[in-house]
Amino acid sequence: MPKAKTVFFCKECGNESPKWLGRCPACGAWDSFAEEPVSPKTSAKSPVSAAMRASQGLKAAPVELSRIETHDDVRTHTGIEEFDRVLGGGIVNSSLVLVGGDPGIGKSTLLLQVCKTLVEQGLDVLYITGEESLRQIKMRADRLDSFKNELVLLAETSLDNIEEILAERKPAVAVIDSIQTMYREDISASPGSVSQVRETTGALLRIGKSLGITIFIVGHVTKEGVVAGPRVLEHMVDTVLYFEGDNSSNYRVLRSVKNRFGSTNEVGVFEMQSSGLREVRNPSEYMLQGHPVGEPGSVIAASLEGTRPILVEVQALVCKTTFNIPRRTAAGTDSNRVNLLMAVLEKRLGLQLGFCDAYINVAGGMRVAEPAIDLAIVMAILSSYKNKPLPENSLVFGEVGLTGEIRGVAQAESRVAEAVNLGYDTVILPNVNARSIKNDRIKLIGVSHVCELGKLV
Ligand code: TYD
Ligand code: MG
Repeated sequence: MPKAKTVFFCKECGNESPKWLGRCPACGAWDSFAEEPVSPKTSAKSPVSAAMRASQGLKAAPVELSRIETHDDVRTHTGIEEFDRVLGGGIVNSSLVLVGGDPGIGKSTLLLQVCKTLVEQGLDVLYITGEESLRQIKMRADRLDSFKNELVLLAETSLDNIEEILAERKPAVAVIDSIQTMYREDISASPGSVSQVRETTGALLRIGKSLGITIFIVGHVTKEGVVAGPRVLEHMVDTVLYFEGDNSSNYRVLRSVKNRFGSTNEVGVFEMQSSGLREVRNPSEYMLQGHPVGEPGSVIAASLEGTRPILVEVQALVCKTTFNIPRRTAAGTDSNRVNLLMAVLEKRLGLQLGFCDAYINVAGGMRVAEPAIDLAIVMAILSSYKNKPLPENSLVFGEVGLTGEIRGVAQAESRVAEAVNLGYDTVILPNVNARSIKNDRIKLIGVSHVCELGKLV
């Protein structure tokens, strides 16, 4: 018997290689190659061009740019404002949307809630599940508000059957939960492998575009890369949304990383409750609820999620160490950055941090990685070290450089505006930003070097 032919695929980016490689030359991932049987070549043509040919007749003809008519894409509003905003103002009809995220983060819940609002508008929606039984979905639906209209479910993993049912029913919207469970019979690799994920998505793209069905695909991302990450299919779909959050907190952020029909700067904020996801219209208020007032080591910082300012509380606890090597812990932010900022404080202000343990925490379960939070971290450390609180009702943002200089940050104006909205009296910010902002409803304190912080805390 001839030996079955196999190829190797990178599970991160889908790069193909005839032999196993320790490191993917395309994306640089280590130990990411998996062996898969060679799939029969279905067609040399890419699914995208196939879909376009289908929609435009058999053969495409060259057209002058000026003769192409543009019209606004037809969009359906789900009524879940945070979701619509991330999509750029509603669901574009017959688009293909990938919703990625860690298992258990709430992707199925989010899409079930979207389905609910869509069926309530009288749309025909088909929810295809390959992961859970129909009873499990019913149980999840029971936790949400009761469905006023019928939602049609299908438990199926064979894409050939799904294709048939979609062609027959022609629903307005279909949800595939999840792409890692779907398979095509003509491909011998197992479901979740790179070739299955890529081929099933290609088939869904073709069906969606030719029949005018909007399709949402759920894709799991696993850190170990056990199943093919949705990154393999990012370039095939119109929109890629990532649903992020910490399993330990209820705060969830829906982020768009690719959008052919809108900006990728938008984020939607949700909170997971016992009755499903609730929209958080004012994330700052949500993040700051119950924060201590007038306590040393607690600083309110203005950060950004996409283009939206979000106020978060940065806490620091600096205390004398009992170990030979002081402990440094940072939760919700980059610990290397915290070490760097502590070194700046030691060198420029002469603080004796070498004898202190330092614990930094961004309260509320949010992760902030932008440099604009530097000044808040520095002031929280300083405030805890000196055991003195910051000026009352104040807010902080700014980047700190290695020489101790305080550098300007982007979108300072909208950060200050959010502070005004939430009733803050004082903003401590980089001097360059302070000079360019005119706002007489709030006191602005411009600082240009960490040496100047001594008089504030
Ligand atoms: P799920 O949508 O199944 O996640 P995913 O599809 O991304 O794997 O949600 C899983 C978690 O959400 C689960 O741990 C239970 C929790 N959850 C709630 O807290 N409240 C709810 O109303 C629902 C439906 C789920
Ligand atoms: Mg799920």
